Amino acid sequence: MDLFCTCVLYLSIFYVSLCLVYLVRKRKSGHGTDLNLPPGKLGYWPIIRETLDFVMTSRGGTPEKFVRDRTSMYSPEVFRTSLLGVGNDVAVFCGASGNKFLFSSENKYITSWWPRSMVIAKFPTEAVDNSSKETGSTKMRNFILEFLKPESLQSYIPVMDSMAREHLEADWAPYKEVRAFSLSKKYTFATSCRLLMSIQNPTHVARLSHPFSLVTAGIMSLPINFPGTAFNKAIQGGKNIREELLSIIRRRKKEIMENEDMAAKDLLSRMLLTKDENGRAMKETEIGNTIMGKLIASQDTTSTAIAFVVNYLAEYPHIYEQVLKEQMEISRSKGPDELLNWEDIQKMRYSWMVACETMRLSPPARGSFREAVTDFTYSGYTIPKGWKTHWTVYSTHKDARYFPDPEKFDPSRFQGSGPAPFTFVPFGGGPRMCPGKEYARVQILVFMHNVVTKFRWKKANPSEKIIYSPNTTPASDLPIRIEPHTQAKDSM
Ligand code: HEM
Repeated sequence: MDLFCTCVLYLSIFYVSLCLVYLVRKRKSGHGTDLNLPPGKLGYWPIIRETLDFVMTSRGGTPEKFVRDRTSMYSPEVFRTSLLGVGNDVAVFCGASGNKFLFSSENKYITSWWPRSMVIAKFPTEAVDNSSKETGSTKMRNFILEFLKPESLQSYIPVMDSMAREHLEADWAPYKEVRAFSLSKKYTFATSCRLLMSIQNPTHVARLSHPFSLVTAGIMSLPINFPGTAFNKAIQGGKNIREELLSIIRRRKKEIMENEDMAAKDLLSRMLLTKDENGRAMKETEIGNTIMGKLIASQDTTSTAIAFVVNYLAEYPHIYEQVLKEQMEISRSKGPDELLNWEDIQKMRYSWMVACETMRLSPPARGSFREAVTDFTYSGYTIPKGWKTHWTVYSTHKDARYFPDPEKFDPSRFQGSGPAPFTFVPFGGGPRMCPGKEYARVQILVFMHNVVTKFRWKKANPSEKIIYSPNTTPASDLPIRIEPHTQAKDSM
């Protein structure tokens, strides 16, 4: 039998097994009851259901279409769908009121839930049962909050600033054309490695970065573990990173025992020195998961925001000029080698409005899922216990009711009190809101300061498509032609 037939055979067995699992689950999940479930169709294909439409609208560059089509067909408040990797019973909450409801129902009606593919990168621990509910995530969240508290954040600003300077000098300045999307990932990943684990050696950073990019590419992919799929590559990447992280953790343990000065060095050292109320230290796997969690949550999100700021500043030269004016005023108020500080960041008001408008139109994260912990009613419909709920930026960010002329790039929307509550939600909301929001804000602004005060640029491929796979991605890596200010011509 040739390779093609073998693949078809395996895929058929896989598909039939999934159908059987689905039929068993369907019997258990309250289908066929007389509950007033949210309207929506499940799609024609067993298991795959509406996933194809979900993927195709994203790949076609209009992820909001998936939501818009269904809100106009079924209900503007909530509709039902079924997605591979999430489940057959998914209620998508829409509009500002849907966001508000979900953000304020945590632990009352719903609890945190991540698609199974999200756990592939994790170290197995006793608490993990390979499902994707809370798995020690409270402890992880606490450590991440510690890493992200305002005093810590303030101390990261000069580090981020000096790293942005070095990055632009090494990876932008020598060239006439650069690929801004890959480079922004390179910058944010190097910063995280430095702040979390004090890893500065570029070779070591690159060794971590390759398997890590496999993980981030596969983590939100369809959970099909077959050679060559993004999911399969992510599993392999996750294994490699775990090995590398364990060796970093063990090396640091040894260093701390030999030299106490290493103690307060970074998040890794702090975790190694932490003891619980019984005097027990954190397990190596828990530490690894916390670092992995922070790297995954922050990597593609912040770098995407940075890359798209670069994109929109190229498309709107008059907005670039205003950002440049704001940033030059800050530059002029400082000595030539003086690094940015917290007060400087607070002065970057217009630049932050530009970053917000960027995240409205090109959101780095699409939303997240929860699981219903009890039956509850929303807008007259019952959401049964065990269903997944989904909020998504695509139900508000491009809705003309909240953002008139929604396709227009207009940072002034964020002036004064800004958009209506629960409409601009790139970081989510409520108790589960992204804890890295401030970190991301600082990192984006530090980068903007450096890049606009050093360069002007133009898009090398003005018709470049944006795809959502599922993250917002410029199809050809955002090539831009750059020119340092000293040589910049007025015509640029
Ligand atoms: C522009 C950058 C970022 C965006 C747009 C973003 C967006 C989000 C969103 C939408 C969520 C889901 C919230 C929810 O479930 O309702 C989230 C969760 C999370 N983010 Fe971010 N994020 C960014 C940067 C970061 C950074 C820099 C860090 C860490 C340093 C971080 C750490 C986390 C963590 C730990 C969670 C999970 C929180 C939980 O489940 O309790 N994020 N983020």
